[in-house]
Amino acid sequence: MGIESLFVTQVYAARLQQARAPLNERLLRECLQLRHDDAAGRRWSAQNYPGGFTSYGSASRMHERSPIFAELARRIDRHVRSYARALAFDIDVRRLAMTDCWVNIMPRGVAHGGHLHPLSLVSGTYYVRTPPGSAVLKFEDPRLERFMAAPPRRRTARRALRPWVSIEAEAGRVVLFESWLRHEVPANRAASERISISFNYASR
Ligand code: NI
Repeated sequence: MGIESLFVTQVYAARLQQARAPLNERLLRECLQLRHDDAAGRRWSAQNYPGGFTSYGSASRMHERSPIFAELARRIDRHVRSYARALAFDIDVRRLAMTDCWVNIMPRGVAHGGHLHPLSLVSGTYYVRTPPGSAVLKFEDPRLERFMAAPPRRRTARRALRPWVSIEAEAGRVVLFESWLRHEVPANRAASERISISFNYASR
């Protein structure tokens, strides 16, 4: 029989475009402009995202508000559908649609603690600007609290067996995960701002 992998958690990462591609450059300008214009978002961030800026509490449907973000959403749609097929979701994957889309700007030292994305099927992040030393995206084994007396894993364990696994933030890359999967962004070590766009998908 051998060993079989069961209850597998699948995370998807792909290059959507080059960091210097025109769409990415336009997204970068819009993210910075949004922070400049979005006073409500700056106030919300001061309370909920100390040291950084997020439009999660103020402009969380950017794909409906900006043609550039709408273009990004169209490109991400294709990846979400392939991912949903790989997960064997028994739904019409063409009905999966972006429901939320917001900007995150993290200066040096800013972190985002562990969380889930409720009321969604698939969530993810697109990286706009990732200077050297940018914080990773770190996933946690959803079975962790059940491990009880289980021993820790060796540091050299392959990724599939580790309780925490990180994916590098890289401009132009899209990362997708199931919305229930807990994740965090550790403190950003980059000298300048790390900029990303996060989103949720649900079935229409
Ligand atoms: Ni998140």
